[in-house]
Amino acid sequence: MASKSGLVAAVFTSLAVAQKYPPDAVDKLGIDALPNLREWLAKNPQGNCTLETAVRRKEWGDLSTTERKAYTDAVLCLQSKPALTSHQAPGAKSRFDDYIVVHIQQTPRNHGSTFFLPWHRMYIAHYENALRTECGYTGYQPYWNWGRYAHDPASSPLFNGDPYSMSGNGAPVPHTGIPFRSAPPPFNIMPPGSGGGCVTTGPFANMSVNIGPIAPSLTLPEIPANPQADGLGYNPRCLRRDLNIHSAAVTTTNYTYDLITQNKEIYWFQTVMEGQFDQGKYGVHSGGHYTVSGDPAGDFYVSPGDPVFWLHHANIDRIWWIWQLQDLERRLVEVSMTKTMLNKPPSENGTLEDMNNLGVLAGDVTTRELMSTMGGWGGRLCYIYE
Ligand SMILES: *[C@@H]1O[C@H](CO)[C@@H](O)[C@H](O)[C@H]1NC(C)=O
Ligand SMILES: *[C@@H]1O[C@H](CO)[C@@H](O)[C@H](O)[C@H]1NC(C)=O
Ligand SMILES: *[C@@H]1O[C@H](CO)[C@@H](O)[C@H](O)[C@H]1NC(C)=O
Ligand SMILES: *[C@@H]1O[C@H](CO)[C@@H](O)[C@H](O)[C@H]1NC(C)=O
Repeated sequence: MASKSGLVAAVFTSLAVAQKYPPDAVDKLGIDALPNLREWLAKNPQGNCTLETAVRRKEWGDLSTTERKAYTDAVLCLQSKPALTSHQAPGAKSRFDDYIVVHIQQTPRNHGSTFFLPWHRMYIAHYENALRTECGYTGYQPYWNWGRYAHDPASSPLFNGDPYSMSGNGAPVPHTGIPFRSAPPPFNIMPPGSGGGCVTTGPFANMSVNIGPIAPSLTLPEIPANPQADGLGYNPRCLRRDLNIHSAAVTTTNYTYDLITQNKEIYWFQTVMEGQFDQGKYGVHSGGHYTVSGDPAGDFYVSPGDPVFWLHHANIDRIWWIWQLQDLERRLVEVSMTKTMLNKPPSENGTLEDMNNLGVLAGDVTTRELMSTMGGWGGRLCYIYE
């Protein structure tokens, strides 16, 4: 057993050796709070899930090129396996598409509601497990620390378009900005990004987007409407991106640091994270989505159809995890908001006993089971972020 200081030192050492990016202020909030987690585990043992056995999810830029390629190969593999949801969605052509179908079906339930954070935690863990068990991936779900690259996402290891990236920007095409209908001017329109065309570089250059669009941020005559009103019909087209530095500007380390340290209640933490559009504040959640933008990354419903969605939402999960670490006794049992998006239509307050599910992919799991990354979901969750 490593001692408390031994573990912290080991984490520091591995960061120092592996990272060309020194820990930023948000990373440090996590690292400095690991002793809290060790103390909590001493009081609340989680069987075989300990700080030593827990999986470590890593930042994309800290993975080796071999590890990055193993990840994108596994995603391409998932895109080649037959769908389980085609009876519900004719557009679903692969196991990768199954996850988009589930997201579309549950979008109004799982955003701006009590389910936002726990449901996405379950969703990512299920996807990570599919990559491992169905596609032979031996790593874990990487995340995208937005703040590292917010000054220039296009040159980041995620989006530089090399064979070890998540593919690059779309080719530049003229297009309008991103509408935010509930925001006051000048925030009701975000200036357009630098792409908009098809992605032609990196591992996902040839990928087919099959489902949607439903609520796109990018509209071009070349993007056909879906043949079905619910967006689940088959509509094959290229992956488009529109990297946007205006959106990236609200995902700096400062924004995330303030989000974690200045919001002591889950209601405010989640509200500031998801955005306060009526005040012209986009929040880091929208900020990350619209940094990529395009089709389908900028589509509220279909966004998981851009493979980088999963790295973005892993970071959302990481920021929640770091926030929870600051006060575990309270924040592992704190939920808020109601069961419908922005309480429309009006609904009951959320509780720890509410059920989360992934449609045909996974049955009911209580929110209580999804609050802790250490031993939650009957032991299926056992991870930390480094
Ligand atoms: C702990 O045990 C459970 C049930 O046997 C297993 O599914 C899980 O992978 C184990 N976790 C670790 C970290 O060993
Ligand atoms: C995309 O398809 C073209 C034509 O089939 C092929 O030459 C190219 O290698 C493919 N690129 C990737 C990244 O799969
Ligand atoms: C981040 O915060 C530091 C300390 O408050 C400040 O000096 C710096 O200008 C901020 N950077 C940005 C990009 O807001
Ligand atoms: C729901 O939560 C709000 C905010 O915490 C609280 O004011 C309200 O009384 C709760 N409603 C019910 C029915 O418990």
